[in-house]
Amino acid sequence: MKVNVSSEGSDRVKADLLAFAVYEGSGISKDLQKIDSSLGSAISKAIKLKRFSGKCGETYMLQTYGKLSVECILLVGMGKKEEFELDHVRKYAGASICSAKVMKAKSLAISMPSCKEKVSDVSHALAEGCVLADYVFDDYVTKTETENNLAVSILSGDKKSTDYGVLVAESINYTRKLQNFPPAVVTPAYLASEAQRMGKELKLKVSVLGNKELEKKGMNGILAVGKGSVNEPRLIQLDYNGGKTGEKPVILVGKGITFDTGGISIKPSRAMDEMKFDMSGAAAVLGIMRIAAKSGLKKNLIGLMACAENRPSSSSYLPGDIIKTYNKKTIEVLNTDAEGRVVLSDALGYAAEMKSEIIVDIATLTGSVVVALGSTYSGMVGNSQRHMDLMRKAGEKTGDKVWQMPLHEDYREMVKSKIADVKNIGSGKGEAGSLSAAAFLEAFVGDSKWIHLDIAGTAWTTEPKPYFGLGGTGAGVHVISEFLRTL
Ligand code: BES
Ligand code: ZN
Ligand code: ZN
Repeated sequence: MKVNVSSEGSDRVKADLLAFAVYEGSGISKDLQKIDSSLGSAISKAIKLKRFSGKCGETYMLQTYGKLSVECILLVGMGKKEEFELDHVRKYAGASICSAKVMKAKSLAISMPSCKEKVSDVSHALAEGCVLADYVFDDYVTKTETENNLAVSILSGDKKSTDYGVLVAESINYTRKLQNFPPAVVTPAYLASEAQRMGKELKLKVSVLGNKELEKKGMNGILAVGKGSVNEPRLIQLDYNGGKTGEKPVILVGKGITFDTGGISIKPSRAMDEMKFDMSGAAAVLGIMRIAAKSGLKKNLIGLMACAENRPSSSSYLPGDIIKTYNKKTIEVLNTDAEGRVVLSDALGYAAEMKSEIIVDIATLTGSVVVALGSTYSGMVGNSQRHMDLMRKAGEKTGDKVWQMPLHEDYREMVKSKIADVKNIGSGKGEAGSLSAAAFLEAFVGDSKWIHLDIAGTAWTTEPKPYFGLGGTGAGVHVISEFLRTL
């Protein structure tokens, strides 16, 4: 798919399909009135007869029968004008793409919705909505038709913002593809070779630690989780230097469990296939680095991906094991399914040793966060309120939303162990599981500033959403890349 801007007016543009945004109960825009009169008031009639009301996401298509230079007109509901948010613009673009695909259109023109936001922000969001809606995970489906290459033009759009929106969305789709591929393909070694490939393309420094190097460095958390599988663990590092030399980097740390069976504390089989998405944090780190490098972000960044496969076998780590991690703190293992925090302990300890502006970790860490926030918000915990406020704002702007949760002394208490420094599950009956997990991670960040994003509920979807098909959503890529721009 190609997304361009066009300065052509909506009454003159040539396309198979021309889309208009219509607010609920607000009448139709001047541009649409012109079209309406060319079509013998077909649009106002449809609204009067309540065939179309303008509810968010609702669509209505009309043939022009040669009366206009476009074959069909699409109306897309935007909801009530008072309830407008930028995400409705992405939904408008997503709905337009879906309709264009259904009618097998080769060209789609999208008219600017009238709203209070800047043209640049709207163009950016339209481009994102288009590119995100266009992605489907069909690499393993035998194709019967040749692909229809849709050309999209955003009418009166801002070129620079559109191009940046396309870059962001293509990078999110890149993360989604890594998430969606089967776990037999996406192993820790695969993620390492993908990082190396990307590093070469974008001139990033990439280093990969395998079993031998991890042993040398005392990264026994990653080793412990990975040792039950023939697919050996890796710690992958990518460096991007877009900032001044000597400027402290932002360090991104991603959980990269390429499959989480639970290990010896094995999971129930229901929906276990979804645990291929347990590497979503690591995949997000790659997507963010791609945006930074391709857009020339003026920041120094380090990406760390803690990758392992969590399997039961005769060589797996066990409940009762005590692990000495990279920063010498010890972990009492009580449940091998709480493996994310174990691999992150080494990566965070390693990150904390470097002087950074802030460490941001991103992980499909707990089932509890899904109970608390569903698939609407990722959970956020941290020790720097200023940075968390910026992250929350970036979430609202991008639609990749985060909700702050508390980090209280009581949660730290819950992960204290009697026989080691911390234990990998909280005391009690699993209450506040996301927060005892966050308190566990906090024990490894030293005095660094730090934000933790738990994306367990947002990283993938089993029901298609307005501009996301089934599977990986690339959660975290959008919000963190926007956060980095506001630092
Ligand atoms: N990968 C899971 C968390 C998860 C669960 C992500 C469901 C997405 C959907 C993680 O490794 C895990 O198993 N966490 C356990 C921790 C528990 C054993 C303390 C959980 O949340 O149940
Ligand atoms: Zn687990
Ligand atoms: Zn996991």
